[in-house]
Amino acid sequence: MNQRPILMFDSGVGGLTVLREARVLMPDRRFVYVADNAAFPYGDWEEDALRARLIQLFGRLLEEHRPELAVIPCNTASTLALGDLRAAFPDVPFVGTVPAIKPAAERTRSGLVSVLATPGTVKRQYTRDLITDWASKVEVTLVGSTVLARLAEVYMREGFVDEQAVRAEIAPCFVEKDGRRTDIVVLACTHYPFLANRMRKMAPWPVDWLDPAEAIARRVLSLVGRAPTDGDLPQGRDAAIFTAGRPDFATARLMQGFGLDVVADTVAA
Ligand code: DGL
Repeated sequence: MNQRPILMFDSGVGGLTVLREARVLMPDRRFVYVADNAAFPYGDWEEDALRARLIQLFGRLLEEHRPELAVIPCNTASTLALGDLRAAFPDVPFVGTVPAIKPAAERTRSGLVSVLATPGTVKRQYTRDLITDWASKVEVTLVGSTVLARLAEVYMREGFVDEQAVRAEIAPCFVEKDGRRTDIVVLACTHYPFLANRMRKMAPWPVDWLDPAEAIARRVLSLVGRAPTDGDLPQGRDAAIFTAGRPDFATARLMQGFGLDVVADTVAA
């Protein structure tokens, strides 16, 4: 069996929150995980430079891995370049990730919703358009965090996170107005679900933390379907590629824990 893989791309380890859901839904599929850690974090990048980097990087990744489909479980990249990538590589189906503003607007009872994301995602026109199109009757507070993605990376590698820093970063999400309170916080960065328990602990009141990982995995499944196999597991282990070269020991162990073999990067930035 020579199955084409599904390529998952993120700036760092955040996309693993989506990979773990995808594995549950598609155990018979092979995945290649790419972390563009040479450019992490994406949150502060200037838009034109990041767009150009993504198109150049994908040109090489798609040629090398010939994936059946490419997933970008990264809001910062998707809200910027999904359209450009689709236009540049029309033969490859792409699944992107954008802030879950529509489901939040449908579910909120208080009418106060917050979107927690990187500064890049917060300032995107794409995000503003989502609010205009789907949440015009709801008050949406956009909160851009410069440090949470980095805290999530450290937490995943070292098992430690500064809880007071988490408290400070999520605090602006909690709004009280006319006796109403924020009841949904959209996790609009794939790194954040790794910190969800700490966020719950440090939150001033309970809210629904909306994590889109499973929805993204379902979207992928709806496009690729189950693998046409006779029940065999895919040959070989899934691969992880880091654009900055071989990652440190803790990161390599983390990848191992997710069933990924770190392979040499021939796409190095
Ligand atoms: N994980 C990325 C996202 O979903 C961004 C993290 C970063 O590189 O700043 O937006």
